[in-house]
Parts: sequence; C-alpha cells; structure tokens
Amino acid sequence: MKIIVTGSLGNISKPLAATLVQQGHAVTVISSQPARQAAIEALGATAAIGTFEDADFLAATFAGADAVYAMVASGYREPDSRVYFQRIGRHYAQAIRQAGVGRVVQLSSWGAHLDHGTGGILGSHDVEEILAELPGLALTHLRPTSFYTNYYGFIGMIKAAGIMGANCGEDVRVALVHPHDIAAAAAEELTRPAGPGRTVRYVASDERTPTEVAQVLGAAIGRPDLRWVAFSDEQMRENLLKNGLPPSTAADIVDIYASMNSGALGEDYWQHRPTLGQVKLEDFAQEFAAAFGNN
Ligand SMILES: NC(=O)c1ccc[n+]([C@@H]2O[C@H](COP(=O)([O-])OP(=O)(O)OC[C@H]3O[C@@H](n4cnc5c(N)ncnc54)[C@H](OP(=O)(O)O)[C@@H]3O)[C@@H](O)[C@H]2O)c1
Repeated sequence: MKIIVTGSLGNISKPLAATLVQQGHAVTVISSQPARQAAIEALGATAAIGTFEDADFLAATFAGADAVYAMVASGYREPDSRVYFQRIGRHYAQAIRQAGVGRVVQLSSWGAHLDHGTGGILGSHDVEEILAELPGLALTHLRPTSFYTNYYGFIGMIKAAGIMGANCGEDVRVALVHPHDIAAAAAEELTRPAGPGRTVRYVASDERTPTEVAQVLGAAIGRPDLRWVAFSDEQMRENLLKNGLPPSTAADIVDIYASMNSGALGEDYWQHRPTLGQVKLEDFAQEFAAAFGNN
C-alpha cells in the first residue's frame, strides 16, 4: 500500500513509519524541515517536505495514496489552539477530497466526544467533525488517552519543589498511553480493509491514579517519597502563567485537567475501554528516569 504519514519523525509518527516500512508498504513522511529528509530516508520512507498549513502541498502529496495518517501537531504556541486545529482540519479535508483518498486514520484524543469544557482537546473534536463531512470516506478517529510523555513536563517541578501536581485529584483514575502503542494501533488501522463511514478507536496502555504515577516515577528516579499534589484550578493557572505560558494556553491546560478531574474527559473512554497496550507505567518509568538524569 502507499501510505502517507504526517507528523514527521514525532513521538508516534516515527515508530509508525518504521513499522509500515517493515511491513513492506511504500511510506511517505511529511516534515516541515528540509533537514529531516535524510533521517526520513534512513527509515526507508520517502520524505515530502512542506507544511500542513498548505492544502495544495497536502493534496499533491496525498495523490495516489491508499491511506493517510492525519495528525495535527500541538497548538500550544498558537494564539487560539481551537482555531488552529480547525484550520489544519479544513486543509486535510480539502486535500483528501482533491486527491480522492478513501481511507484516513485521524489522530484525535480522548475527550474528543465533547464540544465544550475540555480546553486544548476541543480542536480534536472539531477536526473529527470536519473530516466526518467527507462523503464516502473510511474514517477512523484514533483517540489516544494521556501520553506518558506529558510527564516530562513535570521534571522541572520535581527538581525545584520535590512534588508533582496539577488540578486533578490524586485518586482519579487516568488512562495513560505510550506513543509506541498508539503507533501500533495506527498501523493496524491503516492497513486493514475498511468500508466507508466513521469509527472510533481508543488507545491506552495503562490505567492508574496520579498517586500511583508519582510513586512509580519517584521510585525510578531515586525519590521514593515523591507524591502528587492536587492544585485548585486557580493555583494551576497561576503556576502556568508564572512559567511564562500565554493565558490562552494556560486556560487550555487548566480545562484539560479540570475535565479529567470531573470525569467528563474520560466518560466515553470508560464506556468503550480498549484492550490495553503493551507499555506499562513501570516500563515508561525507565525512560522517564533517563530523561530526568539528562535534564
Ligand atoms: N499529549 C497528549 O496527552 C495527547 C493526548 C491525545 C492526543 N494528542 C495529540 O497528539 C499530538 C502530538 O502527537 P506526537 O506527539 O506524535 O507529535 P510530535 O512528536 O509533537 O510531532 C509532531 C511533528 O509534526 C511536525 N510538524 C509541526 N508543525 C508542522 C507543520 N506545520 N507542517 C508539517 N509538519 C509539522 C513536526 O516535525 P518537523 O519539525 O519535522 O516538521 C513535529 O515534530 C497532539 O498535537 C495532540 O493532537 C496528545
């Protein structure tokens, strides 16, 4: 099959491209950086250098493809992440229509079933709806849960204050996922026969509480007393602003954790729980410990 992978050599796209190449597919990887071409070719894929801000470039790249993995990179540097996701979603829709692509696996998120209250995830909801308008498309919304890799963002807090914390209670059950498990699910979806219509697939690797996360990561970095502290929404917002995040980004993050805390974010996930992937929190803790040592 000819398969297009967006997201360059990112957390999910690199293992995804490698898996598809290994399976014998003709894979094209889109990156915005010309300097990335050699590394993409070293994987055995073809590099298409351009941006998903350019719908014509996407359409030309998608021409003749059997399947497309469509992701939107983080919008945290955008003035309004929801507007940014909508814009890229429309570019994808235009390119898919122009190129006549029949199969798309869209990287979405848990919480994307909601159209309000989930902050930075609202854009994923909107992209789902934009792509669902394309007639005849075999469309899978791949909804991963919270990436383990988000915990890298807590390294500074652990080093400075000796705690982990956000505006989410310590005993709330959270579904977590490793990018490798997302890549495996994406590869399965891209290569299986699929008829027209819309399906949702959740992807998770483990289900744990923030207290357990702090214990497991703490043990791995030699801080067995590390604990999770639940902040109020206001404390969380102040911390993020103090760390230099723009107010709109801070609001997006506060809303994600608040909806995780209330249960709204995960309500549809818990009704459609997938078989869990292979990478457990204890496995990720080894990667976390390596990153912690290097920071
Ligand atoms: N964090 C979570 O808990 C969570 C949960 C659910 C879903 N998600 C979704 O997962 C996404 C991140 O996936 P990921 O971690 O695999 O991505 P990633 O590692 O951040 O990689 C994305 C890559 O996309 C490329 N890119 C950025 N802007 C581009 C542009 N304008 N045109 C073309 N390529 C561009 C960049 O590579 P180049 O520099 O080479 O272009 C970047 O490295 C989020 O945006 C969110 O939608 C996240």
